[in-house]
Amino acid sequence: MENIDTPKKAPKSIIIIFGAGGDLTKRKLIPALYHLMQQGLLSKHTNVVGVDRLDSDNETYRNHLSEEIDCFIDKEFFSRDLWDQLISKAHFMQGDFRDPETYKNLKNFLTDIDNKTDTPDNYLFYCATPPSFFGEIAAQLCAAGLSTESDDYWRRLIVEKPFGRDLETARELNKALHQSFQEHQIYRIDHYLGKETVQNIMAYRFGNGTIEPIWNHRYIDHIQITVAESLGVEGRANYYETAGAMRDMIANHLLALMSVIAMEPPNSFNDADAIRDEQTKVLKAIEKFTPEQVLSCAVRGQYGGANLDNGESILGYREEERVAPESGTETFVALKLMIDSWRWSGVPFFIRTGKRMPGRYTEVVIQYKYAPSMMFHKSMDKINHLEPNRLIIRIQPDEGISMQFNAKKPGTIQELSTVDMDFSYSEHFGNAPSTGYETLIYDCLCGDATLFKRADNIEASWAIVQPILDVWQALPARTFPNYKANSWGPDEADTLLKRDGQEDRQWHQIK
Ligand SMILES: NC(=O)c1ccc[n+]([C@@H]2O[C@H](COP(=O)([O-])OP(=O)(O)OC[C@H]3O[C@@H](n4cnc5c(N)ncnc54)[C@H](OP(=O)(O)O)[C@@H]3O)[C@@H](O)[C@H]2O)c1
Repeated sequence: MENIDTPKKAPKSIIIIFGAGGDLTKRKLIPALYHLMQQGLLSKHTNVVGVDRLDSDNETYRNHLSEEIDCFIDKEFFSRDLWDQLISKAHFMQGDFRDPETYKNLKNFLTDIDNKTDTPDNYLFYCATPPSFFGEIAAQLCAAGLSTESDDYWRRLIVEKPFGRDLETARELNKALHQSFQEHQIYRIDHYLGKETVQNIMAYRFGNGTIEPIWNHRYIDHIQITVAESLGVEGRANYYETAGAMRDMIANHLLALMSVIAMEPPNSFNDADAIRDEQTKVLKAIEKFTPEQVLSCAVRGQYGGANLDNGESILGYREEERVAPESGTETFVALKLMIDSWRWSGVPFFIRTGKRMPGRYTEVVIQYKYAPSMMFHKSMDKINHLEPNRLIIRIQPDEGISMQFNAKKPGTIQELSTVDMDFSYSEHFGNAPSTGYETLIYDCLCGDATLFKRADNIEASWAIVQPILDVWQALPARTFPNYKANSWGPDEADTLLKRDGQEDRQWHQIK
């Protein structure tokens, strides 16, 4: 493992989790706090207060977390002593998010902890709740006097996804939050931005002299971003029926990834707003679809059932529990997006996401143009096809970067073959346990908002998908289900790449 300088400990604070009895808390947040503590990044005076309507008390809540933790932390990295230290700082307060009494009690609860321990009044409020509570919790915290900062202490609010369900509701939520907290206090999470590889895209682009000069329309033919999931809705049908792949994945994760790939270099890497300015600028430069373009540049799909060769049968989306038998919810989306900028003139970005794909992975593929002169043309007749150079950034599960290029096969015949130069994160740096929330929680505690979304960034993303949502709502899909479970989506997604005489273009598929 490389020797990396240890960053400073996060300042002393109380982390208040609304939704302490929920899935996110046990699966991601508590394990992330444990990992931060293990890495020496959490002050030992950090306290955690869980708020939920769960019928519980301190002791029962601590026991509940201790029972669950084995499922969410790798045994190899688990130390009972360290866990006991963390859990001794966990507290539980029962309350309903809608009841003003909850916030009065919370204020007293927090003051009590401040007085008993050596913590200043730094409070991080984490809304790990259904999204309908985000605005209400912010307003109630403000009404209870818990959102006001001073020179001596800060108050911050983390808001989970989804942030609104369309442009209008995202604007309303921003407005509601701004009535209670200032923008610099609000941390809107997109856990994709917390992933090491996503952060590494910026390091890779702007930290290497050879990469950035060829990161533009002169050298790049097109870019693909794929987030493929092999699972179906897995008990989330109630939510998914109201969201679909466009709202669940494209409006946040895929556009966030695209903004990191396409942004211009910021003036400074130490200034969250300089980076977020560039990301917002590029999102605003993505051309909005006309209704005609929605029909030609946006593909939606829904999976049907399938019987696999191994004898397994997979239910179609409409046959899943709590899904309407004639549901029009899309479980697959592919889009062709263009950015109206000097750098990206004429370079399409093909982005897609789907459930029940044959693999679970996230990757970005930068496909370069062919060499200007096909010197090997004659010899290529034999193998019929010369692959283009591709830079593949793997985000999950096996994080790394590989460059595909053509090399001569050994022998007397001039024959080329595509080969890989591969960098694997885990092979080089070792495996560090992570839920993906460690960096985000740590950054928020340290007041660094770089990896969080700003109000204008969120609205710029919704402005891209809104015209598509509008057309899809007006014209319900008539061909659903239109792809088989365990396949790469509807045929139209393949045709999307090949339009305008680009017969050679095809989705990069993991082997
Ligand atoms: N779970 C994940 O892996 C994940 C990943 C990414 C983002 N998120 C986001 O994180 C947020 C939380 O998700 P989750 O899966 O943890 O949800 P969840 O399991 O439903 O947890 C929410 C918790 O809040 C409690 N609650 C609901 N209404 C309440 C009220 N009026 N007063 C007090 N407590 C109340 C719930 O209690 P009851 O059980 O009694 O309703 C539950 O314990 C959501 O915005 C979600 O989109 C989750």
